[in-house]
Order: sequence, then structure tokens, then C-alpha cells
Amino acid sequence: KGYFTYDPGFVSTASCESKITYIDGDKGVLMHRGYPIETLAEKSDYLETCYLLLHGELPSAAEYEEFKGIITHHTMVHESIARFFRGFHYDSHPMAMMCGIVGALSAFYHDSLDISNPEHRLISAHRLIAKMPTLAAMCYKHSQGQPFMYPDNNLGYAENFLHMMFGTPCDDPKVNPVIARAMDRIFLLHADHEQNASTSTVRLAGSSGANPFACIAAGIATLWGPAHGGANEAVLSMLEEIGDEKNIDAYVAKAKDKNDPFRLMGFGHRVYKNFDPRAKVMKETCDEVLTELGLENDPLLKIAKRLEQIALEDEYFIQKKLYPNVDFYSGIIMKAIGIPTDMFTVIFATGRTVGWIAHWHEMISEGFKIGRPRQLYTGSVLREFEERDSRP
Ligand code: CMC
Repeated sequence: KGYFTYDPGFVSTASCESKITYIDGDKGVLMHRGYPIETLAEKSDYLETCYLLLHGELPSAAEYEEFKGIITHHTMVHESIARFFRGFHYDSHPMAMMCGIVGALSAFYHDSLDISNPEHRLISAHRLIAKMPTLAAMCYKHSQGQPFMYPDNNLGYAENFLHMMFGTPCDDPKVNPVIARAMDRIFLLHADHEQNASTSTVRLAGSSGANPFACIAAGIATLWGPAHGGANEAVLSMLEEIGDEKNIDAYVAKAKDKNDPFRLMGFGHRVYKNFDPRAKVMKETCDEVLTELGLENDPLLKIAKRLEQIALEDEYFIQKKLYPNVDFYSGIIMKAIGIPTDMFTVIFATGRTVGWIAHWHEMISEGFKIGRPRQLYTGSVLREFEERDSRP
């Protein structure tokens, strides 16, 4: 009693037990429910991985079809939600809209907010996974002043998202299958990452008994920061700021300068001190997309490639084990597909929703205490209260 372990940034504190995701940062290993991320990326798809994260096992063919059907049939949002968007200024940051709109979903599902009921928890999970791409695309359409596109039940999860993003009532082109596959991989590779800042936030919010929509809104708010999910957006802003290959050396020097707070965005990771296994898969997809779209010579993407090469060969980055992370490549892919930078973190949030909700569900199912960290107090000792008139 009276003694607390002081661990700022929780670098050596386990906050919970979990059976969902395993990471060995030194070896560059990431597994969901025992399956390596590389295997899932190659043989599975996002929806199957969602099922695995939520239920602990891969689905049978019949279970997969049933799950796909459930998610597909929950993709629409209430028309009143569409009206919410009108309250946002056209140039609102999409993450600002997402924080508000996802939290507001709690106001629509009173029928299933009893968190002690496993069926209620599951239907909330399905609603969130299904509606996130719809809401994400609505943010984009709102910013463009274009009509919202309804989901199409004949399309796959990623394909549907691209249809809602880029289709219009006058022109709704068929989605390129290479791009749809890349989008599915982006969702899959972001699906979960154990106790990162946003997932820990979701668990902490959930530990008070808050409803799942409110908890996920808290996760979205945490993901927004540039040291977490905001990094993919920061990568593109940085590439635009560098502007020309001839400026790269100066930026690399800034990143290495201890007195300069500048960091190369998209490099380094708190847990992976070896290559991020997601980044390897994302790099392959990145090359496929650039080839498919004939963008190998795009000036911004050339800066990215050169930066990647320098960082992989530079003594400072090698010594500090600062490898390109998943956000470096996902940012480049999304830019190539034509997704605006301020939507990048929204897409990360869409993919991560299943991880957040799987952790929340695990915590509630297994019993939990309210999260209540302590602190090391560094303020004043006991003081006399001086009356206002006699203060200097
Ligand atoms: N560029 C230059 N130097 C760096 C970078 C970087 N991107 N990242 C870390 N360092 C240096 C840092 O200055 C420090 O040097 P020193 O030991 O001399 O003080 C050393 O490497 C260790 O850095 P740290 O901040 O103590 O490491 P951390 O584990 O607390 O931070 C990080 C991890 C991801 C926040 C950090 O590497 C970073 O800011 N990277 C850029 C932002 C980014 O790409 N974030 C996405 C992370 S992946 C997606 C996600 O999980 O959300």
C-alpha cells in the first residue's frame, strides 16, 4: 500500500490478459489467434479476419457466408445520421466528424446496449464493423459536397467502401479488383494490434461500463494523434513538404539532429524493433498498386521510395532500429488510389474497429475492474490557505 510502479508510457506494464493478438517486437512477429499476419494477408480476407478476432476461430464456409450476410445487411445507417453531417462545416476534418458520429450511434440503438448480454454485445460489434465504411465514405462525400452513396449489398466489404467513396449517382464505375484487394489488405493489416493507445483507451472507457459506441468513439479520438493512427496522414504531409528529391538529405539530417524535434513520419515503432511484419506485406501491395495504376514515376512516390532506401541504409536509423512502419506504405497506397490525406486515419479507424470491439468484448466477457491508474504526486506539500485580500 502506498507504493506504485512508475511506468510512464506503459513501456513495461501489462494492463490485461488477452487471447486475441500476439506480438514479438524483437522478432517482428504478429499473430491473430495464433495465425501469422502474413498468412492471413495471403490466404484470408478482412471479413474472415474480423470473424477470427471476434470469435477466436476461423469460420467454416457456412459460418463465413452467414457472417458476411450479417455484416452486409447492417451497412446502412439511419437517415437521421445523414442529417447529422449537415451540421459539420464542409471542411471539417473527417476524424472530427467520425468522433462525433460514431459516439452518436449510441443514441440509435437503445434496444441493444445491455453490455452484460452477449447477444447485445455481438449485434453492436456487427453494427460497428458494418457501418464504419459507410460513415467513413459519408465524411468524404460531405467534404466534396456530393450526395451520399448507399451501400450496395452485391459488393464485397472493401469494394463497397470504394463504391461509396468514388461512385456518384451519375457515374458509378466498376471498382478495379487490384485496388479492391489492396483496400481489403489495408483493412486487414490494421485489424488489431493488441494494447496500443487506442485499444487501451477503448478498454479503459469500457471498464467504466460505457456503451460500445461511446468506447469506440474514444478509440477514434486517440487514434487521431500523429504518433498513432495520424502517422499515415503525417507521412504524406511530410513528403509534400520535402517536395523534391534534392531536399531529402536535409530532412534526414533534421531527423537525426537531437536538438530538432522533427521525426521522419512512418518510421519507427514502439514495439517492433525489427521490421514491422505488416509493413512487408503492405510494401508488396504498394508495388502492385503503383504498377497497376502506372504511377511508378509519380514525383511524390519517388521521394517516398528514395527516403525508404536512405533510411534502410543509414547508420542512425539502423542503430535505432527505425524501420518503415505500416503507415508509411499504407499512406503511399491510399494517395495512389486517390484517397485524400485527411481520410487516411479514418480508414485506419475503419479497419481497427474490429480489434477495438474484440478487445472490449473479451474484457466484458471475462470480467473486469474499472481501470484506475495511480500517479506519483509531484505538487506542493500541505499549505496554509490565505484569504484573497491578504494575498500578495
Ligand atoms: N525519426 C527520427 N528519429 C526517431 C524516429 C523517427 N521517426 N522515431 C524515433 N526516433 C528516435 C528518437 O529521437 C529517440 O532517439 P534518442 O534515443 O536519441 O532519444 C529514439 O529513436 C527512440 O524514440 P522513442 O520516441 O523513445 O521511441 P518510442 O518507442 O517512444 O516511439 C514512435 C515510437 C512510433 C512514436 C516513434 O518512432 C515516432 O514518433 N515515429 C514517427 C511517427 C510514426 O510513424 N508513428 C506510427 C507508428 S505505427 C502505427 C501505430 O501503431 O499507430
